[in-house]
Amino acid sequence: MLVTGANGGVGSVAIALLSRLGYTVVASTGRMGESAYLTGLGATTVIDRSELSAPGKPLGKERWAGVIDTVGSHTLANACATTRYGGAVAACGLAGGMDFPSSVAPFILRGVTLCGIDSVMAPLTVRQAAWGRLARDLDLAKLDAMTREIALAEAPALAEQLLAGQVRGRLVVRLTGEN
Ligand SMILES: NC(=O)c1ccc[n+]([C@@H]2O[C@H](COP(=O)([O-])OP(=O)(O)OC[C@H]3O[C@@H](n4cnc5c(N)ncnc54)[C@H](OP(=O)(O)O)[C@@H]3O)[C@@H](O)[C@H]2O)c1
Repeated sequence: MLVTGANGGVGSVAIALLSRLGYTVVASTGRMGESAYLTGLGATTVIDRSELSAPGKPLGKERWAGVIDTVGSHTLANACATTRYGGAVAACGLAGGMDFPSSVAPFILRGVTLCGIDSVMAPLTVRQAAWGRLARDLDLAKLDAMTREIALAEAPALAEQLLAGQVRGRLVVRLTGEN
């Protein structure tokens, strides 16, 4: 399984979940210096995101049974083009761009499925099922390892760092107590 934007909040959770479920996880990142963190979450292999970010061919060598993509643009297009016959790609984010410069080739020649993911408008029943899976499948020690709690007053500065791709894992803003 390929996870892109691996150091981000979504990527980190995806790696931990997939590894717990027994998948071999390849983490794609722009921060190879964080490889130890990514393997600690359960990634088997860490690759540089430049492998996926340049314009590619409509189809490439089949590499992934499935993909969790948080990056979009050429990364998502290349992920689709290199997904194995019958595999599935979850489009979750746009950290690298909102465009999708792809072709229909992976879908009509390899039966690849592109799954749209939205957590904002997801109905309650879907949320309850997802929360149940998280309670069952997310290793709490790994959740701790990827989570940093911050005071509300720190949020503006850390938001800048997050947008600059400098934050690892998830930030949880503490709204009570001393800020
Ligand atoms: N669909 C939904 O319901 C849903 C829910 C939550 C979030 N999202 C979206 O999913 C994406 C990830 O969310 P997040 O909370 O994980 O964000 P995040 O913590 O900011 O992580 C994004 C990661 O993407 C990588 N990245 C950043 N800039 C990039 C670039 N220009 N090109 C390629 N990779 C880049 C970085 O990982 P590396 O340093 O490892 O490369 C970064 O840590 C965002 O676009 C967010 O809006 C969608």
